[in-house]
Amino acid sequence: MYTKILEANDESVGICAEMLRNGDIVAFPTETVYGLGANALDGEAAQKIFEAKGRPATNPLIIHVADKSQIDEVAYVDEMSKKLIDALMPGPLTLVLRKKSCVPDIVTAGNATVAVRMPDHPVALKLIKAAGVPVCAPSANTSSRPSPTMAMHVYDDLCGKIPVILDGGKCPFGMESTVLDMTTRPPRVVRAGSIELKQIENVIGPVGKETVISDSLSMLKEPTRYVPKAELAFSAYYDNMCSVISSYYDRQKSLGRKPVIFCLKPNANKYGDRRTVIMGETIVDYARLLFEKLREAEKCNYDLVIAEGVPMGGIGTALLSRLMKLSHGNVI
Ligand code: TXA
Ligand code: MG
Repeated sequence: MYTKILEANDESVGICAEMLRNGDIVAFPTETVYGLGANALDGEAAQKIFEAKGRPATNPLIIHVADKSQIDEVAYVDEMSKKLIDALMPGPLTLVLRKKSCVPDIVTAGNATVAVRMPDHPVALKLIKAAGVPVCAPSANTSSRPSPTMAMHVYDDLCGKIPVILDGGKCPFGMESTVLDMTTRPPRVVRAGSIELKQIENVIGPVGKETVISDSLSMLKEPTRYVPKAELAFSAYYDNMCSVISSYYDRQKSLGRKPVIFCLKPNANKYGDRRTVIMGETIVDYARLLFEKLREAEKCNYDLVIAEGVPMGGIGTALLSRLMKLSHGNVI
């Protein structure tokens, strides 16, 4: 199959919307990462997503809507969820709700619940609106690869397996949405992500806390895991982190490896002339750049990425859980 990359504009969005209506799959940008979408009410179309990604049928998809009222078409919305929808959507928050019967089993992996979100990205919203149907979409990477934050990442993974990629530039958050299970009381974060816990708690009060440990436990149960081509290790966050990372780097280099350090800019001068990639000024920058810089490091033939740790809490928790997954728990 030939894979086209179309720059996002009114015409290309119209073409892709029609493809979705016709049962085809389309990769498109969101504010978090690129998604691989299909008509969420068409089981055969959804099946194509699992095939293209090599995704196990046990891993359910997120349904994307263009309008808050469209959520009612696919799920039962309780009062607490309604408050979150009013306050935080559109945005990088996914709610797990009780599903309605119009949603095919393949989309929810046979669960009685369905994950729903309204992306805060003009191209995604235009596409879903023009398609006129809710759009189920996982991240548009091959299963076990880092999520794609640019059209080229999607192309690198799925070229020849999908018909079209709508190119809307870089994804502004660069990290997936926070997934909150609203079917338990209190609600529980099942994946830390771009919306912080405190933003959710400001609206509905205390929720079950996500921890890096609970995230990584659920990771161990996941049938698919991230497999970066370069090995990843990361440091816990503490005072002399930079000197521990430096010694680890030196030891690995002396063993003939080609390591690189992912660090925040304020720390960069602590690594002397060792190779570094600067992950911006703040933890938010670091989270946004992680997947992109990992893919770049692979292309530069580094065989070991040594990433700085960050303090727990807020977006730091989401970042640590990705480092934990990507490194398979390889903490130095
Ligand atoms: O930011 C995002 O969430 C991106 C963009 C494209 O929207 N999507 C994304 O999808 O990351 P995916 O499929 O890569 O991750 C969806 C996560 C998975 O961990 C999945 O297990 C969980 O959401 N999930 C989906 N449906 C669920 C359900 N019914 N109950 C519990 N977890 C669910
Ligand atoms: Mg994914």
